[in-house]
Amino acid sequence: MTYAALDYAASTPVLSQVWEDITEFVPRYGSVHRGSGHLSRYSTSVFENSREEVARFLHLRHDDEVVFTRSTTDSLNMLARCLPEGCPVYAFDTDHHAVLLPWRHDRLVLLDAPRSPAHAVEILDLALKDHDPGAEALVCLTGASNVTGELWPVRRMTDVAHRRGARVVLDAAQLVPHRPVSVQDLGVDWVAFSGHKLYAPFGAGVLAGRWDWPGRAEPYLAGGGATQSVRRTRASRLEVEWKRGVARHEAGSPNVIGAYAIASACRALSGVGFDALMEREKYLMDRVRAGLDGVPRLRLLHLFSDGAERVPVMSFTISGVDSLTLADRLSQEYGIGVRAGMFCAHPLMRHLLGDAATASCEAEEGGTAPLNAVRVSFGAGTTDEHIDRFVGSLKALMRDGS
Ligand SMILES: Cc1ncc(COP(=O)(O)O)c(C=O)c1O
Repeated sequence: MTYAALDYAASTPVLSQVWEDITEFVPRYGSVHRGSGHLSRYSTSVFENSREEVARFLHLRHDDEVVFTRSTTDSLNMLARCLPEGCPVYAFDTDHHAVLLPWRHDRLVLLDAPRSPAHAVEILDLALKDHDPGAEALVCLTGASNVTGELWPVRRMTDVAHRRGARVVLDAAQLVPHRPVSVQDLGVDWVAFSGHKLYAPFGAGVLAGRWDWPGRAEPYLAGGGATQSVRRTRASRLEVEWKRGVARHEAGSPNVIGAYAIASACRALSGVGFDALMEREKYLMDRVRAGLDGVPRLRLLHLFSDGAERVPVMSFTISGVDSLTLADRLSQEYGIGVRAGMFCAHPLMRHLLGDAATASCEAEEGGTAPLNAVRVSFGAGTTDEHIDRFVGSLKALMRDGS
């Protein structure tokens, strides 16, 4: 039995094109920005060309920059270090922990879970109503939920934020693998995403967008590569002049393989075209939905209406069934990899599963069952057989009385 990877929202498999590109590159791999030898020069050009490929993929503005980081989490932490003094940050409590946690907690304004995309726009508008448009503020938006897969109205929310004088960062971790993302069309100021969710799992991520705040901020990482000059003063102190460009935030030897893998994935996905990918994913989602409809006591989690547009990320609970056990059995008995848990979005899960579940979970002291769900997620390379095996196995386990 082949393994059915249905946990793309955690990490996608490697695209074969990405694997081929990396395999071809590895024998020519050398230090980046640090050597005069042929391999160093070659690797440096691969790294810098990767930046350009990402910029094209995201349709960046001409003066935007691409910084290679470790992941979406790393990108958002980096941006958190670049905020102007006193800048408030607005985020929905439905966001992933990577969006909720990097900011100074006393600067974070938490917005309530919306009932619909239009409600999300309203909540944001209301929250920013009293914000002085002359002062800095940052709004965090999620492109697609890692729990429900639902798409958020990024363009409309960005317009609201900009009208109220705030900047916008888009967590596109679950959006970029499934939809074309154009920074120019969406108007967002920054985009963050991870390679390992974009078929390029070699430890790199991206923060792309405006350079005014990052260009002025203290370097995210202090060390070699980020400095213009370092001197010892007469008072035995170090006097450091930091670089102004992207290297300012990329100290240390960069992850050229990770960056190149992301660039390769961007190229490959653009080559296939998102129209074809979206059509295929819609077909697979309909197939899953049809199958899940036949499972008794199953509740698909959603924030917006059941018919809201989504990417292929679906979470569900089955009343009376422990999600963690169910996911284990799918893996051990049927070779299916899904995820069960709270998906690093605890406030959202508490909201979706309701106060009763929260209360009972807390009363259990460490008991987790009521707050967990099973998540199935997929994309390029997922076959009909994977989906049918998943649905069939779920039904078989339910018949068994799991
Ligand atoms: C929506 C969303 N944002 C951010 C992250 C964090 O990504 P990473 O773990 O690659 O930093 C994830 C990961 O699951 C995610 O799904």
